[in-house]
Amino acid sequence: MEHLIIDTDPGVDDALAILAAAAHPNATIEALLVVAGNVGLHHTTTNAGVIVDLIQRDIPIYAGCGEPLVLAGESAAHAHGDDGLGGTGLTSTRRPEPLHASLALLDMVNREPGKYTLVALGPLTNIALALKLDPALPHKLKRCVMMAGAVSAHGNMQLCTEFNVYADPEAAHVVFEAWGAAGRLIELIDWEVTMRYGFTEELVTRWAALGTPKADFFTAVSAHVNRFIREHRRRTTQYYADPVAMAVVLEPEIVTAAEDHYVAVELNGRYARGQTITDWQDLSGRPPNCRIIMALNGERMWQLVENGLR
Ligand code: BDR
Ligand code: CA
Repeated sequence: MEHLIIDTDPGVDDALAILAAAAHPNATIEALLVVAGNVGLHHTTTNAGVIVDLIQRDIPIYAGCGEPLVLAGESAAHAHGDDGLGGTGLTSTRRPEPLHASLALLDMVNREPGKYTLVALGPLTNIALALKLDPALPHKLKRCVMMAGAVSAHGNMQLCTEFNVYADPEAAHVVFEAWGAAGRLIELIDWEVTMRYGFTEELVTRWAALGTPKADFFTAVSAHVNRFIREHRRRTTQYYADPVAMAVVLEPEIVTAAEDHYVAVELNGRYARGQTITDWQDLSGRPPNCRIIMALNGERMWQLVENGLR
């Protein structure tokens, strides 16, 4: 059984990922830690409530950081809509717990070290803050799976970066370095592997016809991003990153190729602030901090996501 702590900034694809986890027989969602990212913290926290309402299970929600560690970031409202769920205006009466997300994370892992898998689907601010309070955090987790980075500079933001790292590069730097120092590996799902396993129009049209409350929810919240990629990216295939990461959490055996390397985060640079820099040839002599997922069983991944909408 995977006991999941999901750090998230919902977000259309975060929602898909969380629904997939909720549907899997070998996983239980123990907490949602919320961070600002796709949109502001007020909206991402409300959206976490909307998703938990849909799942109909009592999953605690902890609100965390509303801003990046150092410099103000950009949102992804252009893709996810002003409220992060496609401008649907969905709301929830569910309220977050009084504890800050970073403290909730530490509280849980200290009570039961080695039990939880941390799944990071947003900017890494909450996790970086937790690491500053307790640098032993990587040792206290069973696994850490992350949607972060563009390991070969084929990103989705500003020439070459990926949103979750671009939105808070300092936080990503703290997290990547801490995992390396601990001699542990982050299971990394990056933007490039996401692009290898796109969600076609045919696939999502089939899902829309399922007629379940979850499928209807997904159809409603994804309408805005569908329009956005058609008009601004001139394609119809969607790249939903977070559910790809969640599929690896749920069934690690779907991974068919992976490489272990040291990955750094560029904090400066004219073009490359927020870029993940990969030591592909292990020239630095630094121990690997990431297991970079290169390929996986796409059919099974799409099936796991579809299960979440049934
Ligand atoms: C990541 O950025 C966000 O917009 C998505 O929710 C995903 O976590 C993809 O770059
Ligand atoms: Ca996300």
